[in-house]
Amino acid sequence: MLDFAIDTAYRAGVILRAGLERERQIDSKGQSDFVTDVDRASEDMIVSAIRSRYPSHRILAEESGQVADVGDYTWLIDPLDGTTNYMHRFPWFAVSIGLLHKHELVLGVVYDPSRDQLFAAERGSGARCNGRRISVSSTTSLGAALLTTGFSYDRFTRPDNNLDHFARILLMAQDVRRPGSAALDLCGIAAGQIDGHWELRLSPWDTAAGVAILIEAGGQASDMQGQPWTPWSPHIVATNGCFHNELITALNQ
Ligand code: IPD
Ligand code: CA
Ligand code: CA
Repeated sequence: MLDFAIDTAYRAGVILRAGLERERQIDSKGQSDFVTDVDRASEDMIVSAIRSRYPSHRILAEESGQVADVGDYTWLIDPLDGTTNYMHRFPWFAVSIGLLHKHELVLGVVYDPSRDQLFAAERGSGARCNGRRISVSSTTSLGAALLTTGFSYDRFTRPDNNLDHFARILLMAQDVRRPGSAALDLCGIAAGQIDGHWELRLSPWDTAAGVAILIEAGGQASDMQGQPWTPWSPHIVATNGCFHNELITALNQ
């Protein structure tokens, strides 16, 4: 199944790369929340590949909707994570494919077509980027950490829009970035290039594959209170594991 997920992610990457330079058809899902014909083409390909190879598996994919409950195997798919970046041709977007066995996360694949980097992990077998083992950084304190975060599409209308956390953590960490693809931000931690990430109101397709890769690279993921993360946790705190509690405390101040 890992080989299948890797092959499918590469094929989705071909679709994303091909759509990058041409005119895209863009539809609005909400204020500043868009979907392109490329998101849909990538998702259609991934979903039909899973349906023909694994007809009994369930699929939760961003653009085609929810499963009522997880099955024996459930795929969690974001066909294009970082759509806003993609629309502007800002090269930080990816395809994200995670797999649950019952409720347990068993594999994750995230492919970044701009850098041709494929992140992959299978439970218990370590994390890899383009076949090479990767591991988290050894940064031990929030003050020395480079963090990433994100702001959900409902930020215009909700008071809990992460701006208060951002203002506080920016003055506590070494620095904070907002790259714009949660899946790739999590892989950045797995690869030791980013020390931590937090974000409110993400969906299972944004985080499942990235967390699978992060955990296998030695990192840690939780909710905002430090409780165990699941793909349905709305909020995420993810780090290299060395200053996780310090970040949780700072976020809850
Ligand atoms: C978004 C990206 C972004 C995050 C948003 C997500 P999308 O996913 O992961 O980094 O901040 O909350 O919704 O819409 O580009 O697939
Ligand atoms: Ca996403
Ligand atoms: Ca998406």
